[in-house]
Amino acid sequence: MTAPALSLQGITCTFVSREDKTQRYTAVRDVHLDIAPGEFVSVVGPTGCGKSTLLNVAAGLLAPSSGRVEVFGQPLVGINTRAGYMFQADSLMPWRTAIDNVMAGLQFRGVPDARAQAEHWLKRVGLGGFGDRYPHQLSGGMRKRTSLAQTLVLDPDIILMDEPFSALDIQTRQLMENEVLQLWAEKKKAVLFITHDLDEAIAMSDRVVVLSAGPGSRPIGEFTIDIERPRDVAEVRMTPRFIELHQAIWDVLREEVLKGYRQQLAA
Ligand SMILES: Nc1ncnc2c1ncn2[C@@H]1O[C@H](COP(=O)(O)OP(=O)(O)O)[C@@H](O)[C@H]1O
Ligand SMILES: [Mg+2]
Repeated sequence: MTAPALSLQGITCTFVSREDKTQRYTAVRDVHLDIAPGEFVSVVGPTGCGKSTLLNVAAGLLAPSSGRVEVFGQPLVGINTRAGYMFQADSLMPWRTAIDNVMAGLQFRGVPDARAQAEHWLKRVGLGGFGDRYPHQLSGGMRKRTSLAQTLVLDPDIILMDEPFSALDIQTRQLMENEVLQLWAEKKKAVLFITHDLDEAIAMSDRVVVLSAGPGSRPIGEFTIDIERPRDVAEVRMTPRFIELHQAIWDVLREEVLKGYRQQLAA
């Protein structure tokens, strides 16, 4: 049996409260999650339940309070160098042009044909003629495309995405989702995709994992998305199987979203 690309084993993350240093808050408790090589897994859950926390643990940016992470069967120590990340907020360097942003990671690695590879990836995300623009000269969708090129140019074996398209308008978002699926289909990397949008999770994924509301969030449901590929994210939403899966997952998620919402009101 091949090892999972990413394996979270009994992950618990407890934070010291920012307001009151005597208070502790356990965001996620005893989370197990395996992602096979080439598998596209989405994690959904209410706001504040610990989705980004889990992604940061997978990225090696946050050491869990207990539990362990394995990457292709090896214990993760420090930053996960097999993974590329795409975060919700823009992570482009404003003082660098699009092409210079895309090639930055390769330059740091001392890759000789960094510029040529960066140009290739800018073209792949539809920004062939825009390499010399600065981030402020690009639309939100174009900045996301640049971030995507910046992540993919490094050819990571695992791709970690934290609500990458949530700030985009729905049309741009669906275009980007379809493009990500096309790029993924070519290279079949393991993807951990975080979203609070159930439609997006179902449309994109092989498997959807539902996290409970915090404190002590953990997976409470897991659904295999047996809808054939290739998929068009806009069209697939109209199919009977999609609607059926949506109902089944929402049955589990609804109560957690309400709990999360009540907690926010109480806080
Ligand atoms: N560094 C931190 N210090 C204290 N609390 C934190 C820290 N990071 C996250 N939390 C808390 O942990 C919970 C989960 O946060 P997060 O993973 O960002 O949720 P999500 O991404 O699901 O919206 C939240 O209640 C948040 O306030
Ligand atoms: Mg988050």
